[in-house]
Amino acid sequence: MPGTSELSHVTSASGTSPRVEELLAALSTEEKIGQLIQYFYFKFPENSAGGPLGDLAGQPRMVEEALTRGGAGSLLFVKDPAETNRLQRAAIDGSPHGIPVLFGFDVIHGLRTIFPVPIGLAASWNAELIERAQAVAATEARAVGIHWVFAPMVDIARDPRWGRIVEGAGEDPLLGSVVAAAQVRGFQGGILGAPGRVIAGPKHFAGYGAALGGRDYDEVDLSDQEFWNTYLPPFRAAVQAGAGNIMSAYMDLNGVPASGNRWLLTDVLRGALGFDGFVVTDANAARDLVTHHFAAGPADAAVRALTAGVDMEMTVADPAFGHLGAALADGRVSPGQLDESVRRILVLKDALGLFDRPFVDEDAAREVLARPAHRDAAQQAAEQAAVLLRNEGAALPLDAAALRRVAVIGPLADSARDTLGPWVFDHDLSETVTILDGIRAYLGDRAAVSYEPGIAAPVRTFPSMFDRWEPGHIAPGSDPAVALDRAVRSAADADVVIAVLGEQQDMIGEAASRCDLSLPGEQLELLEAVAATGTPVVLVLMSGRPLELRGAAATVPAVLQAWYPGTRGGAAVARLLFGDVTPAGKLPFTWPRGVGQVPMHHAVTRSHAPQEQGRRYWDEESTPLFPFGHGLSYARFAYRDLRVEPASGTADGAVTVTVELANVSDRDGTEVAQLYLHQRHGTSSRPLRQLKGFRRVELAAGAAETVTFTVGPDERRYWSAATRGWVTDASTFDVWVGGDATATLHAQFTVTAG
Ligand code: NOJ
Repeated sequence: MPGTSELSHVTSASGTSPRVEELLAALSTEEKIGQLIQYFYFKFPENSAGGPLGDLAGQPRMVEEALTRGGAGSLLFVKDPAETNRLQRAAIDGSPHGIPVLFGFDVIHGLRTIFPVPIGLAASWNAELIERAQAVAATEARAVGIHWVFAPMVDIARDPRWGRIVEGAGEDPLLGSVVAAAQVRGFQGGILGAPGRVIAGPKHFAGYGAALGGRDYDEVDLSDQEFWNTYLPPFRAAVQAGAGNIMSAYMDLNGVPASGNRWLLTDVLRGALGFDGFVVTDANAARDLVTHHFAAGPADAAVRALTAGVDMEMTVADPAFGHLGAALADGRVSPGQLDESVRRILVLKDALGLFDRPFVDEDAAREVLARPAHRDAAQQAAEQAAVLLRNEGAALPLDAAALRRVAVIGPLADSARDTLGPWVFDHDLSETVTILDGIRAYLGDRAAVSYEPGIAAPVRTFPSMFDRWEPGHIAPGSDPAVALDRAVRSAADADVVIAVLGEQQDMIGEAASRCDLSLPGEQLELLEAVAATGTPVVLVLMSGRPLELRGAAATVPAVLQAWYPGTRGGAAVARLLFGDVTPAGKLPFTWPRGVGQVPMHHAVTRSHAPQEQGRRYWDEESTPLFPFGHGLSYARFAYRDLRVEPASGTADGAVTVTVELANVSDRDGTEVAQLYLHQRHGTSSRPLRQLKGFRRVELAAGAAETVTFTVGPDERRYWSAATRGWVTDASTFDVWVGGDATATLHAQFTVTAG
């Protein structure tokens, strides 16, 4: 392994080296263009011809041919160390200048060790934990030869119909920024090209989460103030944390495709954000410029993508960038423009040490992938991700000593594939701890655990374009009435029911939007039937979005949001249910009562009539089911003595906010203290409250601590459409500190001009 000093010749993506310049001078135009093309490479199933990605028979052979003529600078989807070595050898020995391949991959929440899905990681509100998780993912990825990950997804999502809400950090720009930066640090380490780390590729630049109607890939029409104040901050944070790559998005942003949008990719990304790494398109997004009715054809698409600011095209086959040679010849692209993009790629390869150490050690990779410490980290993350939504009458934690019979119900309880969630490729189902496994292992022979799926696993109305790796768990017996009856009987015989319900992993993620947020299939009927037995029911939800909780789902005494908790998810859930771990997660989004309320978030402005007096719907409350930041604990916390000092100051000054946070229970616990700010008047209308700070505080039973926040110009600055620029106003500010977005403990301060 190289020491840091050997890498210090390249400290940022923009720093070139003699090796890069010599290569650049020697490469043919075709080879240069090759460096800017990234191909999918995986062994497609035999029957893939005519599938959603087109006719793919022969695609791997085509890619290997491209590699050996220097026509492919990067590949994605290779995860086996023997394969990365073989393909690397083909590129180095076969291509004219032997430039090593850059391997990229979707390592979203782990490679072999699967962590909770990103929305779950965000619910921990724990930047160190998230950084550690992605450092583990980076170590595993790098060990098998992956150099670059298409993560983190930092798109703000306020519409849970959008399936990709699961991949991000939710609705809030501050939380989103903290989580984005933590992930970049975790993936990359302190220096670009650090040993055992990978290049991070925050995506999808920008505004992808605001898809119309929550429909994936649909157009986005974002006001400037939403763009600058809400959707851009996580990208800014990721760039500031040193991200080496950015992925451009699929959709139209205000009528111009993101991947052909020069204002977005050059003026904003490189200008306003100061990004100096390389930009890759989302898969096939360069050719898609034709689909948008924007580019005249693939040649025009290539020119417009490159000149907008794209450096590399990600493609399955037939790259638009293949036309760049002709564009160079007729002057639509200048040699300097081409070289600039090629230099960015070569600089990265150099920073990663690929020219000197292109291969991985396959034995070492096996050891890295099997590390018990990685599994422990995943369990800890799942424990901290879970959010206790409801706990009437202290139904949780369960007392293992008092239970004789536990009934576990629901098809998701024993589905390893669903426990892992979407966006996993190298997982090991046999070592995945389902929730049923976790409960059984936890209780051992202390109590009898029965399991009944009760119903067949729900399926999507329209199939996923991605394969399911494991068929849904089917209820035993072909007669649905029998399966339901068995579940009801087991519930009636038990001291407690643990119902595990939610969405299968293919119901969330890319191309997995919904227009209904209810529990899919017959899960609510199952829950109603089980609850009707009178046995207390604990509901464990597996999902990556808020679901509509109606009927029994809203009235069962306890609801634990477990997300898709990952490789050791079941062990984590068992420890949470039985009280070995006290839940501390907090919602990273506002949880609506029903789909008709979406999009919904906490930082709304008020107009015409006060929210609480003027109902926004005549058939539904205006409030959500659970506010942003909500999450209960087995401990109890009290906030008191909120102070702001000084009580007034000037525009460039900061105030210090302190609050006493006390654990007023006899259990140790962790609370996320949240600071919300409101500006009473300003250049623009100001939101009723915005998250402006948070602290995760571990408190022993009976302990108290003074929590301190600083609110300065950075917290008060915003982009105003009135002046079309950034402002920090003189005004009076309200501050609330508490455990969620409805916090009531209040103080105020004034900022004067000058
Ligand atoms: C399309 C997705 O939008 C993107 O997030 C992903 O990284 C690429 N496909 C590659 O799998």
